[in-house]
Amino acid sequence: MKLLEWVNIKPVQSLKGKDLLTLFDYTTEEVHQLLDLATNLKFLTKEGKCPPLLAGKTLGMIFEKHSTRTRISFEVGMQQLGGYGMFMHSRDLQLGRGESIPDTAKVFSGYLDGIMIRANSHEMVKELAEHASIPVINGLTDLFHPCQALADLLTLQEVIGELKGKKLAYIGDGNNVAHSLAIAAAHMGMEIVIASPKGYEPVEWISEKISQLAISSGGSYQVTDSPQQAVVNADCIYTDVWTSMGQEQEATERLAAFSDFQVNDALVSLAKEEYVFLHCLPAHREEEVTASVIDGPNSYVFQQAENRLHAQKAVLASLL
Ligand code: CP
Ligand code: NVA
Repeated sequence: MKLLEWVNIKPVQSLKGKDLLTLFDYTTEEVHQLLDLATNLKFLTKEGKCPPLLAGKTLGMIFEKHSTRTRISFEVGMQQLGGYGMFMHSRDLQLGRGESIPDTAKVFSGYLDGIMIRANSHEMVKELAEHASIPVINGLTDLFHPCQALADLLTLQEVIGELKGKKLAYIGDGNNVAHSLAIAAAHMGMEIVIASPKGYEPVEWISEKISQLAISSGGSYQVTDSPQQAVVNADCIYTDVWTSMGQEQEATERLAAFSDFQVNDALVSLAKEEYVFLHCLPAHREEEVTASVIDGPNSYVFQQAENRLHAQKAVLASLL
């Protein structure tokens, strides 16, 4: 890449002041622009020249659930951009004692320049965004995880290059990560196959929208219950935990339901030899993926985790 001066870095203008609740709300062009910006910001950060695009700005970061990557990457990302990321656990806020979401949104809007929230309910995040006059960024809900998906695309672009027409196989739970990954891949025109056990497929209305988006971008979208069919000739194999945060009481029945959906050496042998393995992390070795795969030569999970930082800086610099 040619040397870039930070003065040439341009936030995505059309996203100024917008929320990031799902990547359905962004155009394919905007997703490409965010990825280009993330690539440039990553390069500059590694040169020690990340531009102070958010000097004097504060991001409020509200967590209803645990986090390692999301919390650290947003907090460090704000710092690298010259701003400040303020961590708040919802139980410490009056929100945790029943203060209404509209009132909380209006109060936050008077203090902060943006909100990042990890919440149990996507509906709650939508309500917060409706009443806030500042951008709201989804840091994971029960339905979506768009910041993860941007980091996933950035990683795939770095490793594979052009993604149009490439095959993505997601094996496992049709959950928040699966939804957002498939939306992102649909923007890129990828051939997407999700393999989930019966009863654990992606939510139907979300699948319908992904399918339309994939077709309009020249890609395709399919849901199957055969992991083998999904991974044949795949360029990327992706999996996530079988039991997400908040589903712990279902863990035993999920272990049984997903037992044929482990990403292991036998399964990945059906993919392209140079396939890329991704996982949003945290991972459970020998459950959804064997150590031989996640710690093997085709795994890019730590590059993927690092890319949360750079992808989110592109989001923050554009929205705030
Ligand atoms: N992948 C991800 O969102 O990780 P955390 O739960 O650690 O934030
Ligand atoms: N599906 C997982 C993702 C964690 C980053 C969960 O919601 O717990």
